[in-house]
Parts: sequence; structure tokens; C-alpha cells
Amino acid sequence: MAALFETGGEDAHAFVGAPFEQPAPKGERSDFGTRIAAHWPVVARELKRLYPQVGQRDDLLARLDRLVRAAHKARPAHLKARDIRLAATPDWFQRPNQIGYSLYVDRFGGTLSGLIETIPHLTALGVTYLHLLPIFLPQSGESDGGFAVADHRRVDPRLGTNADLARLARALDEAGITLCLDVVCNHTARDHAWAQAALTGDEAAQARYHIIRDERRVAEIEATLDEVFPDDAPKNFTYEPALSGWVWTTFYPYQWDLNYANPDVFVELVDVVLTLANLGAGALRLDAVAYIWKDIGTICRGRPEAHAVLAALRAIVDIVAPGTLLKAEAIETGNAAAAYFGDGHECQLAYNNALMGLIWATLAGKSAAPWRHAIEEVAATPEGSSWLLYLRCHDDIGWDVLSPFIDGTPLVRRSVIDRIADQFEGKSPAAFGKGIPFQANATHRRATNGTLAALVGLPTDEPGEEDLAILRIILLYATLFAFPGLPVIWMGDELGTTNAPLTGEGDGRAAQRPLLNAADFLDQSRLKPLSRLVLGIVRHLTSLRAACPAFHAASPIVVPGGEGLPDAVLAIRRGLDDSAVLMLGNFSPAPVTVDWRWLSAQTPHFALVDLIGGQTIGCEADLVLEPYQALWLAPPAASR
Ligand code: GLC
Repeated sequence: MAALFETGGEDAHAFVGAPFEQPAPKGERSDFGTRIAAHWPVVARELKRLYPQVGQRDDLLARLDRLVRAAHKARPAHLKARDIRLAATPDWFQRPNQIGYSLYVDRFGGTLSGLIETIPHLTALGVTYLHLLPIFLPQSGESDGGFAVADHRRVDPRLGTNADLARLARALDEAGITLCLDVVCNHTARDHAWAQAALTGDEAAQARYHIIRDERRVAEIEATLDEVFPDDAPKNFTYEPALSGWVWTTFYPYQWDLNYANPDVFVELVDVVLTLANLGAGALRLDAVAYIWKDIGTICRGRPEAHAVLAALRAIVDIVAPGTLLKAEAIETGNAAAAYFGDGHECQLAYNNALMGLIWATLAGKSAAPWRHAIEEVAATPEGSSWLLYLRCHDDIGWDVLSPFIDGTPLVRRSVIDRIADQFEGKSPAAFGKGIPFQANATHRRATNGTLAALVGLPTDEPGEEDLAILRIILLYATLFAFPGLPVIWMGDELGTTNAPLTGEGDGRAAQRPLLNAADFLDQSRLKPLSRLVLGIVRHLTSLRAACPAFHAASPIVVPGGEGLPDAVLAIRRGLDDSAVLMLGNFSPAPVTVDWRWLSAQTPHFALVDLIGGQTIGCEADLVLEPYQALWLAPPAASR
């Protein structure tokens, strides 16, 4: 399993301070030694928690020891140089110039090599961080958009080769773009060699999954679990006749959940992560990481042991590939996603699903007032961490994310959520959304699919509606970019791309996975006027954000309310005192007036400059915000 890095014959227990076979470049050996001294005790501590049996743990530590040393030795010189560079700027991923982009390779550049050709589009957009949805060999046939991985080390031949991947990583590096790859860590495909071996009776392979042979036991376990795809893949277990038992499959039946209580699985995770880091990935997206530890009788999500796995993994990555980011994909409600930062010792990045939902809720209700407090609450991160901010991604929006922020009975919460979803699915009077219900039969779990443009009302033939939809796009990006974190643009949203037609392949999430033609966005003259317009706007906003120190992830945030601020307006103040930037967004389609007394209480300045529109705003006069208008009010240049 660990063949890629296996060096063989080394004394595993002589790890700290062990001599290297090859002389290390000057300065490097001691750096590595320092990192081991700093982080290995964390590995040992967390693994003690996870694997209390001494013999089992010693064997595991010895295997990891070999893996870590071999990975260090195999790490290419240019990546070691990058590690040193990043160490000098530990806040690099928190800086305001960090703009992310996320895409499916086959639907964007076609192949990994084709993607290299699209770099000019990304750099012109200000992109510095590129997340590729799964690119490794998937399950044949349906594969949950590649999230059922049959081989975590082999690039899907339809997209290219491992060498193409390394070339792409180099090209991105040269363009100043960090490559983020998915590590699908909760499950393997049924096609994976382990699952196939398990099906043929290999007991060691079976022990890497959760296989239950007693139907009553399955029912007992189900009783405390949730369902991720209640319509398309109800429940959490799949009967496999060859095993005369049920395999734990949280997602689709062909995605077999791994058993992290088995140290083999942890070693494999480490090996895959270090392999990808050595191929040039600067960030690793840990898919569905909340589910990795099963604690029967609980919801089996976000268990303390899952956090111990993350802390140990982070310590190992910090030894071999310091500066490489771990990103938690834990789609949680409320503040639960913040747990994946683990006081700064787990992931550096985590999706802020709650914030995403709150921004859409504000738009749906044309009012920021009910959500201001929650929005401020979900903005906080521990030092050295950053939120991954997004409006849309390849997945649906699950509206349940809003539940913890709504006061009242479950019935009240349901009706608030229904009103919001109806707005984006075009179901209420005057609703503008062109989203599509997802899992509509599961009434307890509303979710909506659709691209950003579709959710704000595109395409439309209604007079004036297209302009309003474009204003909504500007408002949403201006809001997102004002938050602390690394904002990620979903493929095509920068072009105002509307929903893809559903072909029956995959599930309804295909609506927001459009097939883009690279030739179009590489040659702007081929773009439709609306796409050109939206692209120009997004580029303008990213370039302004990049130059604005107040938007650094570590810069303070306040979401003020109070008399004089209309309910429709979301205000976000970033930075300190006289250098702070104030974002004001009118979430309603009618003009509103901000009272001058409220405005002047926000700033010591008599006038502020709107970075977006360029005009100067006096703070001693009422301020009228046009429908859906967004402003980024900064102190006059001299005092910024
Ligand atoms: C994550 C992915 C989603 C996938 C699931 C199972 O939530 O974003 O697309 O279906 O994990 O891998």
C-alpha cells in the first residue's frame, strides 16, 4: 500500500534525528529535524487516543515514521523551496489577494493539459487558488461526480496522466496559483481494489470497511443517523449478497465508508495526502470529513476522534510539506464547522456553509435584520485559520443550514425555510429564482440546485429583470468578498452561466455543473454581452479586494445594526478604527436611506470613498442606496 514511499529496512524507532541516506541540502536537514521535534509528539498523542492498544499503535507509528521520512526524501526540490517561501509568509492564504476558483476539469478545460491553456482566464480574474473537483480514477458508470474514487493515486485517464497533473501543478505555481485537490477520505468506490478484495472474501480488506451481518443491528445503527441523499440513496447501508451483509454507505451505495478505527486506513490517508502534496498540491480538500469516525449510537458526524485524525494528519503534513493547507469539507449548520480548525491545530481552511446560507436568506427576505447577529457570529476563526467563502459550488444548497438561526418551533423554522427556498425556486409570487428543487420528496430536508445566475433570476425575458439579476450578482459578490476568508468562485458564475440542462445522468446537482467552452472565455469577443458584463464586474471586485488590506482574513469584522440603518441593508465593517472599510449592501429591490447619524457613528471621517463606484460619500448627509446597490466605503486614500 505504501509502496510509493517504501524505503525498507530502516529502523523505524530511530526516527528523531535519524541520519539520512542522501546528504540533505544545506539548512534543510535541521529544518526537517526541527519540524519533527515540534510535530511528532502531536502525532504520537493523537494516535494514542485513537488506537489505545500499545502493540497496534507502535506498529502504526513505525509505519508512519517510514512514510514520513520517505516522503520528505521524495519531495521535489522546487516544492521544498516553496515550503521555505511559504514559511516566511505564514498568513499567505489569509491575504485579501487570495481568490479561489473551483471547477470540474472535463467541463472546463477538458483535460489537465487543456486546463493549462485556461490559466490566462484565471489570472485575469485574480485567481490565486484553484480547486479541481475529483480527478482520480472514478467508479465506472455513475460516480457521484467523481467522489467515488477507485484509485486515489491514478489520474482518470480521460483527464490525463499523473505527469500531466505534475505539469499543471508547475504551470499553476508559476502563475502564482495554489492547486487544491480533493482527498475523498470518507469512502472508496466499490470498484476500489480494497472493496473488490473484500467482496472476494479477503478479511483484511473487509476490516477496512464497516460490514454488518445482522439486519437488526443495521436498524439499530440507522436509528441515530441522518440521511444525505434521502431521495436518491435513502438510508446508510447497502446489502451486498457476496458478503451476506450490509456495507455502511453514507452517500451512494457504490461509496463504501472507510473504517478509521483500523490503522491501515489512517496510514492510507497519510500516504495519499503526502503523495498529492508531493505532486504539487498546495491545498487538500478533505471531502465529507465529518463522517470519518463512526461512534455507534450517535449521529456519527464530527466525532472527537475525527478531530484527532485531523490533528495527527496536520502534524504530519506540517513535517513533510509545511505550508500545505488542509481544508475541511464539513457541511455543518451554525458554528459547527469552526470545530474543524481545532484551535488552529486541524485544518487551516473550512467551508463556511452557514454564511453562504445566511447571505441567500438575506436576499430572499430582502432584509438583513433577522440575520445580522448570526452573520457576525459565524465570521470568527481561530488565529492562523481562514474560512472558505462561497456563494455556489458543485453541490446543492441545503436550507437546513439556517435552522439554528431561526427562533421558534420546528414548524416556524420549517415555514421560514420554505419561504426562502420558494423564492429561489420561483414558487412564490414575484419570486425571481430559477433554481430547481433537490430531493423534493424528502420534505424534512429542503435543498435547491442552480447556478448563481439561475438563483438570482437568469435567464429572463421580463423587462428590467435582467438588470436586477445582474445587480443581485454584484451585491452577492460584494458581500462575500467583504467577509474574512478565501472566497471561491464556482466555475461559470463569473460569466453569468445559467443552469445546465438535466440529461438524466447523475443527480439534480448537474444543473450547476455547466459545460463551458474554453474558447469562449479565452476570447472575450466571443462572449455574450451579459457574460462579458458579469465577467468585467467580477474582475473589478477581485482586483479591488486584492488591494484592500482591511479585507485580510485576520482583520476584525463587525456587523453593525442600530437605529438609522434600514432593515434591508447589510453592513459589514472590516479593519480597525480610522482605516476600516464599511460595506453597505441594499438587499431590497427598492431604494433605501441610511441615516447620516448612523453613518457618521461608523467612522471618524467626514467623507468616505466608494471603492466600487469611485464616488466620494459625505458622512453628514443621508445616504440613499439604490435597489440592490453595494458600496465598499473606505477612508480617503491618504488615511487608508
Ligand atoms: C461532498 C461533495 C459531494 C459528494 C459527497 C460525497 O459533500 O461535495 O459532491 O457527493 O461529498 O463524496
